[in-house]
Amino acid sequence: MKILVIGSGGREHALLWKLSQSSRVTQLLCAPGNAGTAGIATNHPVAAIDLQGLADLAKAEQVDLTIVGPDDPLAAGIIDLFHQQGLRVFGPVAAAALLEASKSFAKDFMVRHGIPTAGSVTFSDSSAALIHCRSAVYPLVVKADGLALGKGVVIAHSPTEAETAIREIMVEKIFGDAGNTVVIEEFLTGPECSLHALIDNKNYILFPDAKDHKRALDGDQGLNTGGMGTISPSRVVDDAMRQRLAREVLEPFVKGLAADGLPFQGMLFPGLMMTPNGPKVLEFNCRFGDPETQSLMRRLKSDLLDLIEATIDGTLADARPEWDQRVAVCVVLASGGYPGPIEKGKVITGIEKASADPDVVVFHAGTAHKEGHVVTNGGRVLGVTALGSTLEEARQKAYAAADKIAFEGKQLRRDIGA
Ligand code: AMP
Ligand code: GLY
Repeated sequence: MKILVIGSGGREHALLWKLSQSSRVTQLLCAPGNAGTAGIATNHPVAAIDLQGLADLAKAEQVDLTIVGPDDPLAAGIIDLFHQQGLRVFGPVAAAALLEASKSFAKDFMVRHGIPTAGSVTFSDSSAALIHCRSAVYPLVVKADGLALGKGVVIAHSPTEAETAIREIMVEKIFGDAGNTVVIEEFLTGPECSLHALIDNKNYILFPDAKDHKRALDGDQGLNTGGMGTISPSRVVDDAMRQRLAREVLEPFVKGLAADGLPFQGMLFPGLMMTPNGPKVLEFNCRFGDPETQSLMRRLKSDLLDLIEATIDGTLADARPEWDQRVAVCVVLASGGYPGPIEKGKVITGIEKASADPDVVVFHAGTAHKEGHVVTNGGRVLGVTALGSTLEEARQKAYAAADKIAFEGKQLRRDIGA
């Protein structure tokens, strides 16, 4: 089979790496890809949001199956467009991807179907939101309704901070139309964890849990990022909690789909907080997480293509994926200044040396080829992933490998999984 993966991050490199191990895959393509995907797939310079350009590419290359990585093309309706044009594709249609693209839509869905989440109120009028904040309990959380590159969430400790957030989001529109509506929700506490489950409308397959490290600096300090590293398992979910999450989140989710007549074929990635009052869903993502996927693909022993096809064909009930029982750690190497402005084009050395340990795989994110070198080309540059029989061993291997890689401004957290 000829497979096209859309996107250019560590997630897409990890998916391609796993797909390249399938005996049924004959050729891999990536659009637009990075220097790492170029090693296992043919990169095509079509942007992930150029929906018709991607459909044309899939037709011209006679691609058998397209897998969509990022959220934007899903929200923009790439799945609907591919279906209209008779192309086989993995991911939820736009009506279902709204569960990620609109936090108020997701909240309504969770409330309607009894999925535990933070109490919240939705406002489309900034004056009403401001009045609400005058008499609210603090801290509280202000969220832009739409996609805002993970930056649309503000934890406000006072009415003044809430007011500033509401003005920036709803009046100054710093996230554009994503801020037409805000969700103001109860502040929760507890460890966070990322769940991933493939869903074929009716059935789901729950992946092992993972934990992201969203802040830029050690000790969960600094700004929120796309994710500076992951571990899997997360260490916050035991077997009993896993069963509870299946019962309280996944089962009502698929029942809710049926009740609402909403189709969902793809990956559901709920972000959770394990509060003193039980697990609560912070958000739904309708795609593979990044860098979660880098850790998860290192642990998947079964054929990823089988699972993807079972999701599209509605046969997940028969799927029994096998997982490596070892621990996976992914340490992200980012450009200096990330998540703020960064400089690109810095020469990267040491990737081969870092990959010498058979337990280590280096996934590329913001990288490109330039004049015979691999150079930096984005905020998150590489994901150094290691497997170990213990978390400590996996950490030690990941950091030993990460230290062999050099580029100007290299930035990483030292406490992934600590
Ligand atoms: P989200 O994009 O909704 O997952 O939010 C991004 C981050 O903001 C989460 O990973 C949490 O760390 C934090 N967050 C979101 N919602 C809440 C909440 N209700 N209470 C406390 N922290 C939250
Ligand atoms: N790592 C968080 C995300 O993919 O949204």
